[in-house]
Amino acid sequence: MSTPDTTLPDTGPSDTKAALSRRGLLGLAGAGVAGLALGGGAGALTTAAALSGASGSSNRYPFHGAHQAGIVTPSQDRLHFAAFDMSSTATRADLISLLSDWTAAAARLTQGSTIGDGAVDGELLAPPDDTGEALGLPPSGLTITFGFGPTLFRDAAGTDRFGIAARTPPLLRELPHFRGDLLVAAASGGDLCVQACADDPQVAVHAIRNLSRIAFGRAALRWSQLGFGRTSSTSTAQTTPRNLFGFKDGTANIKAEETAAVDDDVWVSASDGPAWLAGGSYLVARKIRMVIENWDHTQLGEQQRVIGRDKGEGAPLSGGTEFTEPDFHARRADGSTKIDAQSHVRLAHPDFNKGTRLLRRGYNFVDGNDELGRLNAGLFFISFQRSPEQFIRVQHNLADDAMNEYIKHVGSAIFAVPPGARAGQSIGATLFA
Ligand code: HEM
Repeated sequence: MSTPDTTLPDTGPSDTKAALSRRGLLGLAGAGVAGLALGGGAGALTTAAALSGASGSSNRYPFHGAHQAGIVTPSQDRLHFAAFDMSSTATRADLISLLSDWTAAAARLTQGSTIGDGAVDGELLAPPDDTGEALGLPPSGLTITFGFGPTLFRDAAGTDRFGIAARTPPLLRELPHFRGDLLVAAASGGDLCVQACADDPQVAVHAIRNLSRIAFGRAALRWSQLGFGRTSSTSTAQTTPRNLFGFKDGTANIKAEETAAVDDDVWVSASDGPAWLAGGSYLVARKIRMVIENWDHTQLGEQQRVIGRDKGEGAPLSGGTEFTEPDFHARRADGSTKIDAQSHVRLAHPDFNKGTRLLRRGYNFVDGNDELGRLNAGLFFISFQRSPEQFIRVQHNLADDAMNEYIKHVGSAIFAVPPGARAGQSIGATLFA
């Protein structure tokens, strides 16, 4: 897993200067070191702030590595997710140069540095290289994770715009229609995605804004989503957060410390193919509206029946505490099962999905309200898996989920997440090798 690093990225002396200049403005040089608390081996969480998801932390995760950061990294508290489409005139060379420029920028941003000459140190007669709103802010555990959508390989008309169709991962297809889907194009699809997660929302937004600016002329934003309040834990050291239904979410998630499960269920292996994707993953994003008002008028007992867990402790209704395994056979005196057959945890559980597990990494969202005074709120679901089939199986099984009365899937996208970039390489280098 990615652990916060206190070294600067190996991208040359100018990066070092710029990184020091942003942190110099803060008087925070060395703060990354001060923040280190729990160090340790693979899987260990290393800063107290990461545990709490505190805003504006000095956590710093390396950008380069075998896997991209932002997957098994302890879930930060804030998200800005963006889907991009390549411009209609973009060439293969444009795509390669965009990924190269994005890689260089991401390597700096994640270390708390500015883009290029920064926001205030450049030419007075030119627009600044960096937009500036992150000046004075620490790295905040920023991770930037890139993905490639099916349309990057072959567009809707079937055209191989960038000469990579022959390298399409066979499993990277648009997701099938699921019962109850009410998808809107404005929150679905995309040639490329960028997931920016941080402990500070301004740091995440700054990253997407600047990457979007760098893309100008080559790719443009298709849709984007802000998220607050992580709805999962990806480390056993994190406490389980709550979603907007008020329930603990992430209890049975795959955790970074479960290294065998991460290898089996999250990373694409060399034998899965294609070779260029080895060490990568598949990202599924689903924008799920919650019908908050109906939920809030629902009795506590019914809310718990729908989820299959109690609301306070998060324990399965079969008994025990939060991390007790559910017993789906346990019965009440009247013979009914303690965990309802249509409850969310039963239908999502590996026992009812041929052992399938997902690494969930979603966020709460509130996009204002509608004209009837109802919150546009929900869960921006993100999962990482070794194969899209894992998500597809579970989502099909949720067709009868009692929760469906209270949710609507309105956005959907899938991306192949390439492996991490080695120092000196670009994200996606293996695709174009
Ligand atoms: C608004 C939508 C959703 C809400 C509010 C929600 C909420 C929850 C809650 C409260 C739990 C129990 C705690 C936990 O183990 O994390 C849970 C578990 C789970 N959810 Fe969801 N969920 C939603 C959508 C989804 C979707 C779309 C999927 C995948 C297709 C999914 C897959 C799972 C899985 C795999 C588990 C763990 C089951 C287990 O092993 O016990 N959830 N969810």
